[in-house]
Formats: sequence, structure tokens, C-alpha cells
Amino acid sequence: MATSANPLHLSQDPAPGKILISALELQRRVSELGAQVTADYQGKALVLVGILRGSVMFAADLLRRIDLPVTLDFLAISSYVGRDASGVVRLIKDLDHSITGKHVLLVEDIIDTGLTLNYVLRVLATRGPESLTVCTLLDKPARRLIEQPLVKYVGFHIPDVFVVGYGLDYNQRFRNLPYIGVLQLP
Ligand code: IMP
Repeated sequence: MATSANPLHLSQDPAPGKILISALELQRRVSELGAQVTADYQGKALVLVGILRGSVMFAADLLRRIDLPVTLDFLAISSYVGRDASGVVRLIKDLDHSITGKHVLLVEDIIDTGLTLNYVLRVLATRGPESLTVCTLLDKPARRLIEQPLVKYVGFHIPDVFVVGYGLDYNQRFRNLPYIGVLQLP
């Protein structure tokens, strides 16, 4: 029987192929982003808002790199099925705490078309935050439909490939990979 070097690769299954961003590169960049956020929000308190579930790892790591009075909240939206966007975005879990009058940094895993972010930003803007900006780990500009002027922090710009790992999934799998890999379909 043929064995695979990758224990996650079951035959006929999609698998995370080539490593696009290593665990070390991720940690280095998250540290830089944390330092930048710390400098930019000096003297202020900050609310990090993560979007479940893809941004969980990034939000948790970024939080630890921010040296400010900072709190963490999450919201959840319906997401992609497989590799295709349903085109429909719904809020399925709201924030636990009010963001009115607060400095809010929305933490996203990846921006592709921009439709998801556009929806979430519109929802959050109605709550009257003092400021609202976005930090995304990955930016895939090739398929952008809506420009995102509130995106101030970007970890990595990547090409138009479907990636998994470090929180990002394919049908809920591969979130546990410590690196970002390009999904390989069989
Ligand atoms: P957008 O609405 O097209 O910008 O898509 C944003 C959402 O789609 C992200 O929050 C992810 O949940 C998902 N997504 C987009 N591209 C990828 C990818 O390459 N891998 C995993 N999820 C993705």
C-alpha cells in the first residue's frame, strides 16, 4: 500500500498541499502586526472582534502580541460551503458586549471578494463604535468585488488559491495545521 508523507492525506480526499506560509513566518508577521497595533492605539483601550471560526487562531495570537488594555469578543457568520461562496452571509452569533464608543479592531482570517467583510462592517458601524478598522491575516485581492478602505493591517497578500490551515478550513477540516497550505483536490 502506498503511504503518504502527509498523514492527513487520505486517498480521494482533498489535502493541504504546498506550504504557502510557514508557522515561523506566521508567528513573525503576527508579532509585527501586534507591535504596529500597539503603537497605533497607544493610550487607548481596544476591542478585538474576531469572526468565527476562521480567525480564532489569528485573533488569539494577535491578542498576545498587543500591549494595551484590550478585550476580545467574537461574532459568527454563515460561511462558505466547500470551495464556493453561497453569496449569502448571515449573522449567526452576535457580540456579547457593546462596542458603542469603543475602538474596535475587526480581526478577519482572509478577504476574498470582500462581501463578508462588507456585511460585518455594516452591522458593526450601526453600533456607533468610536473607531472601526480591520486587520486581516490574508488578502486575496484577485477576486475583490468591494473595496475595503477600513483594512489597515494585512498579514500577507496571497494569489487566487484556496488555502487551509491556521484556522482556515475546507469543509471544517485542516484548521489545526500550524501553517497555511494550498488545498489540493484529488
Ligand atoms: P469573501 O466574502 O469572499 O471575502 O470571503 C471571506 C470568507 O470566505 C473568509 O472569511 C473565509 O471564511 C472564506 N474563504 C475565502 N477564501 C478562502 C480560502 O482560500 N480558504 C478558506 N476560506 C476562505
